[in-house]
Amino acid sequence: MSGGEPLDLAPVVRNFLDLSDAGGNVIAAMIGDAIDRKKARQGQPKGAPDADAPLKGCVLAMVFEKSSTRTRVSFDIAMRQLGGSALILDSGTSQLGRGETVADTARVLSRMCDAIMVRTDDHAKMLEMARHATVPVINGLTDRSHPCQIVADLLTVIEHGKALPGLELAWFGDGNNVLHSILEAAALMKFNVRVATPAGYEPEAEFVDMARAAGCTITLTQDAAEAAAGADVVVTDTWISMGQAHAEEKLAAMEPYRVDRELMARAKPDAVFLHCLPAHVGDEVSEEVFEGPQSVVFDEAENRIHAQKSVLLWCFGKLG
Ligand code: CP
Ligand code: NVA
Repeated sequence: MSGGEPLDLAPVVRNFLDLSDAGGNVIAAMIGDAIDRKKARQGQPKGAPDADAPLKGCVLAMVFEKSSTRTRVSFDIAMRQLGGSALILDSGTSQLGRGETVADTARVLSRMCDAIMVRTDDHAKMLEMARHATVPVINGLTDRSHPCQIVADLLTVIEHGKALPGLELAWFGDGNNVLHSILEAAALMKFNVRVATPAGYEPEAEFVDMARAAGCTITLTQDAAEAAAGADVVVTDTWISMGQAHAEEKLAAMEPYRVDRELMARAKPDAVFLHCLPAHVGDEVSEEVFEGPQSVVFDEAENRIHAQKSVLLWCFGKLG
């Protein structure tokens, strides 16, 4: 080609299937943009569009094969605030639930909508959706990861005055999808993670290896007190995730990993407590901690809106 002529390439679709799709610099930009937009719209009704309405006319399809409150509402409100709109397909009322293929659904939604958010019980189904879609696909939680949650979590940690590089984050309980995305975030944003789980409930080695390869200190322990000592951020999640069997044996194994006042007291005095919600107060966290002064769980929930806006803007090529 002669110099200066535009290349005739198909537009690159920006999927947000996991945090690494964006990378550390983009995640930092997402958090910065979320802080700016959140500040700029203070006092506005929650559904009012931001002044620049950057996604005016755009429609997000939200595919749910699992329950949701925060992801569903935050993406809907995020699209309204960006000047666009969102619609929901759930397996109970769409043809997906009657066996229409993911590939055909992806192709149809790509003709009708500008982006697709998927929450599914099977990470492979989301990858299949992305393979066949011609618009951006966003991971709204799978059995393997929950990247959108972690953008909101990092935003919350920063808002509460903590810098990410060198941060000591302590996780208690089940080595699940949320923890996997925290470990991926650690690799990208350079913070350290102490993981306290019962034997047999550790996170997948792939995520631990990814963070260690990036130079992070990742401690896997069965000693909750050791993990909590001097932590900046204390995090837990449900002991039984969606789609998992309710197992008494697992619940019994998790008992020593409840975040209670004694455990929280081992962290730094200014440590914050995070939980993606929904919480099972009395199981993974005591009421005293959940309702206590170090708990920032409702800031974290609200930040899903602001974080999702940044994710959407990046996917639409308007950030980073
Ligand atoms: N934290 C979170 O993803 O909540 P929902 O399951 O309500 O969407
Ligand atoms: N680990 C939980 C997160 C819910 C937002 C689940 O997958 O059910």
